[in-house]
Amino acid sequence: MNYLIETIGCQMNVCESDWLGSVLSTYGMSKVSSLSDADIVILNTCSVRYQAEQKAFSYLGRAEEFRRQNPEIKIVVTGCMAERLGLKIKQRFKSVDLVVGAKDIDITALKIIDLCNIDAEKQEELDTHSDIVRYITIMRGCDNYCSYCVVPFVRGRETSLDAEIIVKKCSLFVKNGAKEIMLLGQNVNSYQYNDVNFTSLIKKISTINGLERIRFMTNHPKDLGDDLVSVMATEPKVCSHIHLPMQSASNKILKAMDRKYTYEHYLELINKLRNVITDVSITTDIIVGFPGETESDFEETLKAVKDIRFGGSYVFRYSPRPNTKASELVDDVPLEEKKSRHAIILKESNKISVEIVAAMVGSVQQVLAERFENSVIEARTRGGRKVFVKDGTGKDLGKHLNVVIKEAKINSLFGNIA
Ligand code: 5AD
Ligand code: SF4
Repeated sequence: MNYLIETIGCQMNVCESDWLGSVLSTYGMSKVSSLSDADIVILNTCSVRYQAEQKAFSYLGRAEEFRRQNPEIKIVVTGCMAERLGLKIKQRFKSVDLVVGAKDIDITALKIIDLCNIDAEKQEELDTHSDIVRYITIMRGCDNYCSYCVVPFVRGRETSLDAEIIVKKCSLFVKNGAKEIMLLGQNVNSYQYNDVNFTSLIKKISTINGLERIRFMTNHPKDLGDDLVSVMATEPKVCSHIHLPMQSASNKILKAMDRKYTYEHYLELINKLRNVITDVSITTDIIVGFPGETESDFEETLKAVKDIRFGGSYVFRYSPRPNTKASELVDDVPLEEKKSRHAIILKESNKISVEIVAAMVGSVQQVLAERFENSVIEARTRGGRKVFVKDGTGKDLGKHLNVVIKEAKINSLFGNIA
């Protein structure tokens, strides 16, 4: 039996799809990438922005059309939109067989197995996945209730997973060939399980022999303590990249967003990180057009983008989400204005990214070889930039390589082994 997983949304979803896929493989199911090869289609959805839900609806429309010609195919919807809308999805798309919300992700695999009439006893050996990079969710949910955000409503309260189990899972990943582990959570740096906080968890994971790199995502500036900055500076396995969503640089807007920090505090964190981690790459999320954002609030954010020079920025137009505090505010920035602010920030941040990567041409970067496809090694720098190495071989997979950067594009670098 073949399954196709289509994932919309954040790294958490990518991780959960990855996990779901590995469980389904233990029941003898095979992953395919085209609808025409699939017996079951799983759509892992996102609710963070209006557009993400529209994307899911249009995918479901196409899947339904496909199902008309192939009535035996099964359709499953999981993730945040499944949690938020539940059975309403089935009312709108009659051919959806199963809806399982994000909070029930743990039982999704079993429900799918049941739907496909596979004997649950037939499970084969667990976790034989051999990717170089593995993802692991260490905490779920969010208690922050930023005023624009739907996540606390769909993902529920913040819960951290048992530290000992996390370390055991990471060891198993490494035993099966992983060299890099990405720790995931809505706010990884708020992790707390009994007396283990995020920094002590990183320290425990870094003792695993054979593990080369640790990454994590995403962080809330309010919880970024000196202990995390210091472990990033001193533990060689921890990569020098941090995703630290700023959202806005206007204190008035940050307050209305309930972000619980000021721009000055945010800037202090940036300076601290850059002072102790020389090659640190800082990426961010920005929302434009939040209710009440004036031209001068926007100018403050634009100035911050120019001053801070992020390694990369994800820029979003504000969209009101159900149940959130901000959805009660008048959405007073006209769509055209939101679009224009979005384009201005994106243009500036792209210009900066191009300058940053152009300055890397000629330098030697230490990269980890993650994949070998079409005779090219796909690797990543410690700062998280993708590097394509043209003269590598399959034997380099999982190894650290020193690569001379020959060419730079905004989202990828190209080079040869030094
Ligand atoms: N509108 C626009 N962007 C949003 N984000 C979260 N909620 C909204 C919303 N209602 C953005 C934030 C967050 C990222 C994952 O998505 O920037 O950091
Ligand atoms: Fe949403 Fe804020 Fe929680 Fe991030 S910290 S998931 S933006 S509520």
